[in-house]
Amino acid sequence: MENRYQTVCEQLRAQPGRWLVTGCAGFIGSNLLEALLQLDQTVVGLDNFATGHRRNLDEVAATVGAERWARFRFIEGDIRDLDTCHEAMVGVERVLHQAALGSVPRSLEDPITSNSVNVSGFLNMLVAARDAKVQSFVYAASSSTYGDHEALPKIEDRIGKPLSPYAVTKYVNELYADVFARAYGLGSTGLRYFNVFGKRQDPNGAYAAVIPKWVAAMIRDEVVVINGDGETSRDFCYVDNAVQANILASLAVKATEHEVYNVAFNQRTTLNQLFDQLVQALRPLDIDYKLEPQHRDFRAGDVRHSQADISKARQQLGYEPQFDVARGIQAAMPWYVRFLG
Ligand SMILES: NC(=O)c1ccc[n+]([C@@H]2O[C@H](COP(=O)([O-])OP(=O)(O)OC[C@H]3O[C@@H](n4cnc5c(N)ncnc54)[C@H](O)[C@@H]3O)[C@@H](O)[C@H]2O)c1
Repeated sequence: MENRYQTVCEQLRAQPGRWLVTGCAGFIGSNLLEALLQLDQTVVGLDNFATGHRRNLDEVAATVGAERWARFRFIEGDIRDLDTCHEAMVGVERVLHQAALGSVPRSLEDPITSNSVNVSGFLNMLVAARDAKVQSFVYAASSSTYGDHEALPKIEDRIGKPLSPYAVTKYVNELYADVFARAYGLGSTGLRYFNVFGKRQDPNGAYAAVIPKWVAAMIRDEVVVINGDGETSRDFCYVDNAVQANILASLAVKATEHEVYNVAFNQRTTLNQLFDQLVQALRPLDIDYKLEPQHRDFRAGDVRHSQADISKARQQLGYEPQFDVARGIQAAMPWYVRFLG
């Protein structure tokens, strides 16, 4: 079924479209930007560098080359400003909305800012997309929406109560997108990402995600800290799988309909297993990490286990993730070693 993705990519190359990627200076956004430019698409990018970096854009520019980079226009701006959202939408056919403040702990510390970006900013984007009559609106939803629902694997229509302000914001996105489909006919799709990882995911800062944070500690020969006993598990999803899901979803959005899909690999990895895999993946790159991890308390707002059922995306979108955790780690590691070395 990689075929569906290949077919869609060939269609896009033959008939390039005009896209808006918000959060394009961030981790997932910059990977989407790179993939779209490699497919000869025209892209507008919007970012305010709250958590993203100009160096990510520079890296994409260097990767795709001058000719493709010329098809990119960057707007430095904030999705909390409706005029900026309208401006970014001019001439755009398809939107991949990634801009948000990620991180459960950040939202616990400052729920007001997370809400204003993730909810008010999101609503601005929907209004601007509706007014511009875009063909499709695909946005970053989150596995955090499953909240305290314990059943595994996670199925799209069985969710529990949110466990953090961040989870509330991401669930509200889905509710608004659903209403905009019904009330205004704006077709959209929410992609519930499960722990995405890969190149350009920020390893620095208090809210860094587990894989880049640990890899950075290992490369710097510092002690890795594990929250809890290490038997917490996640369905880690390499970023190329998420890129595939975005492109497939974008072409599949139907007017007046709103859908949500899990985006993951359907593989559960515990933190202890992850630790071992990262140590092993660094060895061929001449980094021999020998320190024992340190365990501390479980982190507030975290769910214990997470694993996605991805059959809905497989069946309806033709989603066929090509990277399991091991392959993803192998692909991402040289970037981290270069970036942090
Ligand atoms: N990485 C994951 O595992 C994961 C999991 C679930 C959901 N998500 C969602 O995916 C999206 C992308 O996440 P990411 O991991 O690439 O994070 P990221 O922090 O690297 O990227 C987010 C980007 O949005 C930009 N941004 C933030 N506030 C903005 C604002 N007010 N106006 C304009 N731009 C703004 C940031 O500067 C950054 O470049 C987010 O919506 C996030 O909530 C990510």
